[in-house]
Amino acid sequence: MSTGPVDPTTTPAWEELAALAAGFTPDLRGWFDDDAGRTASLTHQAGDLHVDLSKTFLRDDVLAALLDLAAQTGVVERRDAMFAGAHINTTEDRAVLHTALRLPADASLTVDGQDVVADVHEVLDRVGAFAERVRSGTWTGVTGKRIETVVNIGIGGSDLGPVMAYEALEPYHQDGLTCRFISNIDPTDAGQELKGLDPETTLFIVSSKTFGTLETLTNARLCRSWLLDHLPAGSDPEAAVAQHFVAVSTALDKVAEFGIDPDNAFGFWDWVGGRYSMDSAIGLSLVIAVGPERFTEMLAGFHTVDEHFRTTPAADNVPLLMGLLNVWYTNFLGAHTHAVLPYSQLLHRFPAYLQQLTMESNGKGVRWDGTEVSYDTGEVFWGEPGTNGQHAFYQLIHQGTRLIPADFIAFARPAYALADGDTDVHELFLANFFAQTKALAFGKTADEVRAEGVAEDLVSARTFPGNRPTTSIMAPELSPGVLGQLIALYEHLTFVEGAVWGIDSFDQWGVELGKQLAQQLRPAVSGDADVAAEQDASTQSLIRYYQEHRG
Ligand code: F6P
Repeated sequence: MSTGPVDPTTTPAWEELAALAAGFTPDLRGWFDDDAGRTASLTHQAGDLHVDLSKTFLRDDVLAALLDLAAQTGVVERRDAMFAGAHINTTEDRAVLHTALRLPADASLTVDGQDVVADVHEVLDRVGAFAERVRSGTWTGVTGKRIETVVNIGIGGSDLGPVMAYEALEPYHQDGLTCRFISNIDPTDAGQELKGLDPETTLFIVSSKTFGTLETLTNARLCRSWLLDHLPAGSDPEAAVAQHFVAVSTALDKVAEFGIDPDNAFGFWDWVGGRYSMDSAIGLSLVIAVGPERFTEMLAGFHTVDEHFRTTPAADNVPLLMGLLNVWYTNFLGAHTHAVLPYSQLLHRFPAYLQQLTMESNGKGVRWDGTEVSYDTGEVFWGEPGTNGQHAFYQLIHQGTRLIPADFIAFARPAYALADGDTDVHELFLANFFAQTKALAFGKTADEVRAEGVAEDLVSARTFPGNRPTTSIMAPELSPGVLGQLIALYEHLTFVEGAVWGIDSFDQWGVELGKQLAQQLRPAVSGDADVAAEQDASTQSLIRYYQEHRG
């Protein structure tokens, strides 16, 4: 974009929202009583996603001002620039085109002189063909045995998306094929994941956008040594690596240097951010587990919500509304965190995935032109599946002193339809979802508590204030397509927040300093006294503690 970011605090809409916030007293009971149409007017559909915003803190005047804020900060223009392939990642001078990863093959998009759709589908076809070879047993290990375990080695965006989706789509896994994921440089991770594996039937995928990440390269070397040490004596090392190691990266030259056959390497492009890459070749482990057809269905789901975001008018545009709502909570009502509570055990890694997506994207203190922000950005996203969370942290959401907006996610049809006698357990499960969002919204007044015969000295402890805002997201079932829709929804609402704040949601400079210092400190940890002496007193003391206790 040629023009600089708008400081949102200078817009009339910001001023209007600040005035609304000053006198704002949420009254969900009253709002529902006064407006029988509240739920209908605040429920929207994006693809298969049924999104009910009626238990949020949206009111007509707030909504109007938020839509003005979007208009005055140029959110739609920035959205269009993203879809068109403009270099909106200014600090890295890159296009931001994860949406191109899910364009149908007959679409066309030329960016920087290159037809990106043709490139995407060329790689997708290769990924699909390779996955089919593994699934069918045509691709074998070096001793001729078919592959039974796929180990993805990657971290951040090269791990969180694949593992989250692998877990989410468990009902679609091919029998006899399992994926494992090694990410942490803590050797315990590789130690545990390699335990019990048969090297003859194990395939490693080294997933790294840059192919320069310390954790991933260390783990890849470690796994290569493990493979060569454990294969039957006499196995040819070069042939073994060729059969048991493939890679996914934008840096195919570095893949070759590592010793992986370029024929077994799958590329992607610098216009795909790491945390937006699970629908690129980075999803190879998932493609092997669920098959190319299911993966294609997932991509179609992403595309459905991309199209919704790109074309739906503002008042019905779900990612736009959800992103703006988060701005309302964060900048005007003082929320610092945002809970994501899937009522789906299959989505147990979804909050962890969202943490990178949202917090690496929007945890920025300067706008995309380098000017400092004077307002909060980037809420802390967190969560756990329901109902487990109900028995852990919901207490604080119901009766604590903090505002914690929450997204509840559930599916009408269960992945496993099990009964407890006459009780359909999925119905019991969903009853909890509905009960929690109801309790959070409407609470229980002191009079209602008294009417139950509770002793007066316990009434306040047993009162529920209500007015705890939630968004309810439901879909027919957790299919690959719906998973794609859900992820795209969060990608785009993250985009909307970043666009209002005027920040570059696509760089991640904040991770660099720690990486540099780890390299500098490394010799001190191993005993280099000169490097140790250069450290601050606390760091020296911690290193000394390690040296005295390492055994
Ligand atoms: O350190 C952060 C980060 O760069 C993430 O943005 C990225 O997803 C992750 O590291 C892994 O990077 P790579 O895929 O290049 O190994």
